[in-house]
Amino acid sequence: MARIIVVTSGKGGVGKTTTSAAIAMGLAKRGHKTVVIDFDVGLRNLDLIMGCERRVVYDFINVINGEANLNQALIRDKHCNSLFILPASQTRDKDALTLEGVEKVLEELSKDFKYIVCDSPAGIEKGAHLAMYFADDAFVVTNPEVSSVRDSDRMLGIMASKSRRAELGMEPIKEYLLLTRYDPDRVEAGEMLSLEDVQEILSLHLLGIIPESKAVLNASNSGTPVILDEKSDAGQAYADVVARYLGEKRPHRFIDSKKGFLRKLFGGK
Ligand SMILES: Nc1ncnc2c1ncn2[C@@H]1O[C@H](COP(=O)(O)OP(=O)(O)O)[C@@H](O)[C@H]1O
Ligand SMILES: [Mg+2]
Repeated sequence: MARIIVVTSGKGGVGKTTTSAAIAMGLAKRGHKTVVIDFDVGLRNLDLIMGCERRVVYDFINVINGEANLNQALIRDKHCNSLFILPASQTRDKDALTLEGVEKVLEELSKDFKYIVCDSPAGIEKGAHLAMYFADDAFVVTNPEVSSVRDSDRMLGIMASKSRRAELGMEPIKEYLLLTRYDPDRVEAGEMLSLEDVQEILSLHLLGIIPESKAVLNASNSGTPVILDEKSDAGQAYADVVARYLGEKRPHRFIDSKKGFLRKLFGGK
């Protein structure tokens, strides 16, 4: 049986697709057979970030409609043999995703994969609902801004009441916080919420802090998940996230601003 992870947020542009690509690659690199599914029908960002956009022939909706089987639609990652991508359709309308269709695909993937990572679209509409409905674990991607925290909070409410686990009275979805695009200097300057502020509102288990980083744009331009850029801060932060998810203890990094760090070093306040 696979473990189904949804990468969700409510708000768009916070780093869900970046995160989905990075953690799917991270899990696969550790030898776990992993598939990452793009639920964002119409946008189709994931295959660009994974660098496989030219190889898309069939997509998730073709499989749901029975126009192709999973083997025809799954794309093996070019960097890692244990990673597969199920792309979204760029042209179909969002109604083509159905609960029964998604369930069938997830059940079939479950037989073969250890982890299924669902990259959720923004919002709380159908696509986002379907991406989270069957999840076992949720990575709640949040930026240190009031609007992002508010939308994440809303998504937590929906997961607690409208997921399959909630409907069947099962153990709830395990929720983890991923604070992304964190800029310690701007937090220090009071322009962004601090980690403590965010945790106070959401009170979730913190899986990691991903710093605002140029490496993310470089990675997406070159079609390689940023976790493969092992020298970069964001790449290392995502590697820590995967390790923590798998049960390793790693101290949190990338929290302090350089100024704050120097002050601490020299014993100031
Ligand atoms: N840690 C980060 N540092 C800098 N830019 C980031 C970071 N994470 C995401 N981005 C950028 O933010 C934008 C939105 O990211 P994306 O992963 O597509 O978000 P979503 O899937 O939530 O809409 C992209 O341009 C991406 O390159
Ligand atoms: Mg996205």
